[in-house]
Amino acid sequence: ITVYVPRDSSAVSLGADRIAAAIEQEAQKRSIDIKLVRNGSRGLFWLEPLVEVETAQGRIAYGPVQIGDVSTLFDANFTQGGEHALSLGLTKEIEYLKKQERLTFARVGITDPVSLDDYLSHDGYRGLANALKLSPEEIVKQVTDSGLRGRGGAAFPTGIKWNTVLHAPGEQKYIVCNADEGDSGTFSDRMVMEDDPFVLIEGMTIAGLAVGATQGYIYLRVEYPHAYEALNAAIAKAHAAGYLGDNIQGSGKAFNLEVRLGAGAYICGEETSLLESLEGKRGLVRFKPPLPAISGLFGKPTVINNVISLASVPIILDKGGEFYRNFGMGRSRGTLPLQLAGNIKHGGLVELAFGLTLRELLYDYGGGSATGRPIRAVQVGGPLGAYLPESQFDTPVDYESFAAIWAVLGHGGIVVFDDTVDMAEMARYSMEFCAIESCGKCTPCRIGSTRGREVIEDIMAGKELAKNVPLLRDLCNTLLNGSLCALGGMTPYPVLSALNHFPEDFGITG
Ligand code: NAI
Ligand code: SF4
Repeated sequence: ITVYVPRDSSAVSLGADRIAAAIEQEAQKRSIDIKLVRNGSRGLFWLEPLVEVETAQGRIAYGPVQIGDVSTLFDANFTQGGEHALSLGLTKEIEYLKKQERLTFARVGITDPVSLDDYLSHDGYRGLANALKLSPEEIVKQVTDSGLRGRGGAAFPTGIKWNTVLHAPGEQKYIVCNADEGDSGTFSDRMVMEDDPFVLIEGMTIAGLAVGATQGYIYLRVEYPHAYEALNAAIAKAHAAGYLGDNIQGSGKAFNLEVRLGAGAYICGEETSLLESLEGKRGLVRFKPPLPAISGLFGKPTVINNVISLASVPIILDKGGEFYRNFGMGRSRGTLPLQLAGNIKHGGLVELAFGLTLRELLYDYGGGSATGRPIRAVQVGGPLGAYLPESQFDTPVDYESFAAIWAVLGHGGIVVFDDTVDMAEMARYSMEFCAIESCGKCTPCRIGSTRGREVIEDIMAGKELAKNVPLLRDLCNTLLNGSLCALGGMTPYPVLSALNHFPEDFGITG
């Protein structure tokens, strides 16, 4: 009998380790022979810790399991799929999961993340096997044909980026994975790294073959210790089995991989300051051009992609660019792992093809707010994303549709607020956040953010609105157009969207 208890940090933070130990103990006590597997999370966080058991009909789920439930689960014969107050039925039939289109997250929650055998028996390394038969140009073509765009947030076509690196002159090239997932309300990178690290390793290896890079680095935020462990364990196993190293699967081609930890600066998620940090320097933003694709890590041509972009490559190489392209709408192809967070009843991971509306996500999946009060605003795309009011909830999840309403999809994080939110305070905090995290290289961001916070505080205090509101708009204009990178350049998104959609919170009437 196989029993699954997730090892994902979302489940562990809710007591999964203790529950796993208690299940083993209780099984021993009752002389029931079980095999306990620490799988990844299914991404249904309100049901964590979600315990599953393998039955002839498929996996049956129970959750959220508390320590006190363990003995009653055994009393109910859960190892045979017995009925219990926490029964959720067949896992794959749970509505939240059933309707999803999991391509990048195909294995997440199903397999033991650090078992290479499990990875291989669930279609793992099929993409690499195909890539090894193709020329670099052919690999890049598959990725270009797939329509995959950068999932870190900027949505730049991945195939075009790879093509630039492929054709950039240079003996040494690098693949860098941006795993400094810093956006508020986001956790898709973390889940991939903790729950299916081999898919990222495979994606990076394919990227290395595609552009002729022999060394890769995963720049991981220090706040993700479980991901660090899982990645290192998986890298060691991939090495031992010849999936990494100097002769990948006997092909004579080399690719090596290391994980490097960040030190907690939000700005190190910006690609050029990430490269500085990786080189051992302070995380200051670099001028572009030159693009990292031409002159990146240690001045060499470098592919720098987000975790989700790279983790989407194996399925593209396995099933072909066309397969992936068939999902989505307009120029947003494939799927996006959306992350529901904040004041939401059913927070978690929802991977779907582009095209569904925000409203469907918030209500059909999210089940409305956790407090039961009306949802007043959502911030999409992290702390630099715009706030969207209810009137914009019918916007489809699509890069261009979001751009059309002066919003961004970013990395797919959605933070929900009910009607008790004070949007002026949220705008004030955006400026404060920018001031705290600014790298200090350019004036609009370094100084503008502090002045911006002061102006919003004056507005909140009702001081000289006729002067201060235009002043705030003017300052935002300077930040938008005069900043060197997205931190200063996008802070006006949350500030102005809050001001435009919720003027009453700023004391502006009529
Ligand atoms: P960008 O638009 O300057 O660049 C996008 C990417 O395309 C970069 O990697 C750039 O080097 C590359 N690129 C552009 N032209 C190219 C060419 N001709 N050939 C090859 N590569 C080319 O955007 P940036 O500043 O890198 O990212 C901003 C975005 O980051 C924002 O939209 C925001 O949503 C997102 N973001 C994500 C966070 C997260 O935690 N995931 C945190 C903060 C911001
Ligand atoms: Fe640094 Fe801010 Fe300028 Fe970006 S916008 S380069 S974070 S000072």
